[in-house]
Amino acid sequence: MQIDAGIITISDRASKGLYDDLGGPALKAAATGYGWRVTGEALVPDEKRDIQRAIRELIAKGCHLILTTGGTGVAPRDVTPEAVREIALRELPGFGEVMRMESMKITRNAILSRNLAAVVDQALVVCLPGKPSGAVECLGFVVGAIPHCIEVLQAVPTSC
Ligand code: MTE
Repeated sequence: MQIDAGIITISDRASKGLYDDLGGPALKAAATGYGWRVTGEALVPDEKRDIQRAIRELIAKGCHLILTTGGTGVAPRDVTPEAVREIALRELPGFGEVMRMESMKITRNAILSRNLAAVVDQALVVCLPGKPSGAVECLGFVVGAIPHCIEVLQAVPTSC
C-alpha cells in the first residue's frame, strides 16, 4: 500500500525561528527515499499539548505513519515520550530497543534517547532523536518493520 507519512519537528528553538529546522527536511528526504508520500509537516515547541495536537491533525489528514524528531532526551523540556504515551493505544517497545542498541554502535550518547514507537488511533508514531543524522539513522534501523506494521494497523490483508 502507499504509505502517507507526516513529519513533526519538536524543538523550542526551531519553532521560535532561532535556528533552521534541519531534522524535518532530513526525515522528509529519507521518507521519500523509502517510497512514502509526505503529506503533512509540522514544527512545534517542546510542549505536550502542541505535540499531541500536531499528531492528531496529521492523523486527521490521513497519515498512516508519523515521524517525530526531537525531545527524546533528558533535558527538562524533553517531553516527546510523555506526550505520545498519553495518547497512545499501545507502545511497541521493540522499536526503541533496536534504535538504541544499533545507535550505541555509533555514539555512546544513544543511551540517552528515550526514542519509541506507539500506535495512536490507526497510525504508527515513531519518535526519533533531534539530531538530523541521528533521526535518519534511527529510522533506518527500524524501517524494515514499518510497512507490515502499517498494513496491519490499517487492516489491509497481509502476511508476515
Ligand atoms: N542516535 C543516533 N543514532 N545518532 C545520534 O547522533 N544522538 C543522541 C541520542 N541518539 C544520536 C542518537 C543524543 S546526543 C541525544 S542527547 C539523544 O539522542 C536525545 O536527543 P533528543 O533529545 O534531541 O531527541
